[in-house]
Amino acid sequence: MASHNANIVWHAASVRKEDRQKLNGHKGAVIWFTGLSGSGKSTIANAVEQRMHERGLRTYLLDGDNIRHGINRDLGFSPEDRKENIRRIGEVSKLFVDAGLIVLTAFISPYKEDRQIARELVDEGEFVEAYVKCSLEQCEVRDPKGLYKKAKAGEIPEFTGISSPYEEPEAPELIIESDKQSVEQSVDQLIDYLLSRGIIAE
Ligand code: ADX
Repeated sequence: MASHNANIVWHAASVRKEDRQKLNGHKGAVIWFTGLSGSGKSTIANAVEQRMHERGLRTYLLDGDNIRHGINRDLGFSPEDRKENIRRIGEVSKLFVDAGLIVLTAFISPYKEDRQIARELVDEGEFVEAYVKCSLEQCEVRDPKGLYKKAKAGEIPEFTGISSPYEEPEAPELIIESDKQSVEQSVDQLIDYLLSRGIIAE
């Protein structure tokens, strides 16, 4: 790696992040949703993005299933591949934050260490970890894609929650209890948090 980078010089751009944020009228940030498959990450992230769009905020949603069809189509679900999945999403998020956007990411991102790496790529206060907390039992009942059923039948190896771990966040900025509150309540919770942190304004 190092030898590849030795002859590449970082260029400072003349239009800075702050200039783009001024034009947009709000800060850039990453809202990093994490949680089990079927916990509601995509549903909540989509609903939050919709609400933000209506408020005139510039957003972009990176969603696990879609990203795995494109930029990360070469990756599977081994710990190493999940790590690389999250590393790339973290780097892409960083670029979008630099572009002044509010990025929403919806990936299981089961490993603490990988989420921490993504956090450290952006500035202090720009990373909002939103743990979509839902019991495994409830996710299995929901089973929107029928994957838990397959995993329990031994048809999907290394399935999160069944045969692969999910490491709960210890100090996330937000805990969204999706088995106890409605999507609308979760959207309100998130918007209120962003207002309280001055990431967006009334
Ligand atoms: S992550 O662990 O690397 O963050 P990611 O969010 O990109 O996962 O992808 C998870 C989605 O892939 C799940 O919602 C599910 O639809 C699908 N999937 C397929 N195989 C697996 C597996 N072994 N474990 C978890 N999810 C899987």
